[in-house]
Amino acid sequence: MKNLKGKSVLVTGASKGIGSYIVNTLAKEGLNIICVARSEDELNKAKLKVEELGSSAHVFPFDLQNIRLIPELINDIRSEIGEIDILVNNAGIEMYRKYGDYSARELNSILSVNLHAPMELTRLLLPGMLDRGAGHVVNVASLAGCKGVAYNAIYSATKAGMIMWSEGLRQELKGTGVGVSTIKPGYISEAGMFHNSGQEAPKLLGTSPPQAVADAVIRAIKGNKAELIVNKGPIKPLLALNVFTPVFGDSLVRWFGVQELSAKRVT
Ligand SMILES: NC(=O)c1ccc[n+]([C@@H]2O[C@H](COP(=O)([O-])OP(=O)(O)OC[C@H]3O[C@@H](n4cnc5c(N)ncnc54)[C@H](OP(=O)(O)O)[C@@H]3O)[C@@H](O)[C@H]2O)c1
Repeated sequence: MKNLKGKSVLVTGASKGIGSYIVNTLAKEGLNIICVARSEDELNKAKLKVEELGSSAHVFPFDLQNIRLIPELINDIRSEIGEIDILVNNAGIEMYRKYGDYSARELNSILSVNLHAPMELTRLLLPGMLDRGAGHVVNVASLAGCKGVAYNAIYSATKAGMIMWSEGLRQELKGTGVGVSTIKPGYISEAGMFHNSGQEAPKLLGTSPPQAVADAVIRAIKGNKAELIVNKGPIKPLLALNVFTPVFGDSLVRWFGVQELSAKRVT
């Protein structure tokens, strides 16, 4: 989708972190933005910022764990604003635990917010996009979906699931005018869940700014990109190596200090 001006985009996780950068960057492109997250106050701040940037925004406070209420959310959005051209599934949560220490409720909430909600939102918005022969779904996954992370295994599973779901859907939708893109960020500085942890990223992996994720979202939509990695250094050769020898991949990750860092984030 080359010209984004005047299109409607629904962004989840629009209240803070990387989502704020995505929302502001989309606002500069002239999109009408539907902001979804739980915190109404933060969403209203996001709306003001979008308006300062010369675009329009609508706020829909919603807890994405409530999967069965998502059809109602979409109906409300449709009756107030109309059809959605672009969906950015950005909301996500992570909880660092020893695996046996997760409660069933925590397990379910990570699966719901990170994977089930994006799938359900897409299921509901896709038929409209297909009818119009145009649309785009951007899924903000993670490099943790390419190589599992200790003490964050459920999060890794949801991001791996998101990557494979996107891959299947992208092939299914080829030629329909509806694109599907996956963004895979590594550690992000300045804002967001890693920055908020107060930890330092392993030196050899480094961090990228949140604006790089927002720029990737725009590039993905305009260029109909399948997948974009946002990481400080080149990571593809290491990911390829891990496909051939996952146990060596485990050793490399330990050597980089990822496991030690993740252990410090266990709560
Ligand atoms: N930061 C990183 O280093 C990094 C790296 C790789 C991938 N990512 C991915 O980037 C995306 C954004 O993460 P971030 O770092 O910006 O995290 P963040 O600062 O914690 O923001 C998460 C966003 O998701 C929303 N959210 C969380 N639970 C929700 C729920 N139950 N219902 C509705 N909205 C909910 C939050 O809003 P409310 O709290 O107001 O609901 C917030 O807007 C996530 O998918 C994450 O997995 C981040």
